[in-house]
Amino acid sequence: MAARRLLFRAMYRLGFTPWDGHALARGLRDLIQGDSGAALSPGTVLDLGCGTGDIAIYLAHNGWRVTGVDFTPRALRIARAKAAAAKVSVRFLCADITQLSEADLGEPFNLVTDSGCLHGMNDQDRAMYVRQLNAVTGPDSRLLIVGFTPGALFGVRGIDQPEIERLFAPEWELVSAGDEPNYVPVNGGQPVRHYLLARRA
Ligand SMILES: C[S@@+](CC[C@H](N)C(=O)[O-])C[C@H]1O[C@@H](n2cnc3c(N)ncnc32)[C@H](O)[C@@H]1O
Repeated sequence: MAARRLLFRAMYRLGFTPWDGHALARGLRDLIQGDSGAALSPGTVLDLGCGTGDIAIYLAHNGWRVTGVDFTPRALRIARAKAAAAKVSVRFLCADITQLSEADLGEPFNLVTDSGCLHGMNDQDRAMYVRQLNAVTGPDSRLLIVGFTPGALFGVRGIDQPEIERLFAPEWELVSAGDEPNYVPVNGGQPVRHYLLARRA
């Protein structure tokens, strides 16, 4: 865990953040703005591993009350500046997702988004992630995860659909999944997928 935190700190310090500026995931856009009846009404959303805030700002622009969490202070400084420039209000918190209960988030979230965070975690952190997630969501909450499938570049471990279903059972059920062909141009063609889950009652 400490190693991962240091790795991200070093990457942000060096300005080596290839995920920055990636296209908005199609799965996210469909969920927020889609006209197929799948779009959610705005509510409270928690963006896990929010980085420099692009997704949080997009959500705020679309009427959501947004909390963005990341454990890299430099990313959050950039995120706060971007939100101020975009004239949107986002609560950005410095916290470790695997210890979210220490952050006192204060509300059950209607939606949780994760773009590129869970997919890099080890087994132990994945299990803690699920426990923490269950504590900040309630029946009918939604969860949208975007991640590389296994075998990606940069040593990112990746995650696939069977693991998603296993990891989040029994509290969550998979609603849909799909490819994200335009998501990150530097991933060497490695498929990126999104997974939409709903919390069971
Ligand atoms: C690949 S970046 C993606 C950033 C952003 N979601 C995006 O799509 O541009 C992953 C982010 O998750 C953060 N992160 C990774 N593990 C974390 C953890 N355990 N707790 C909080 N933040 C974490 C990193 O600092 C980094 O900003």
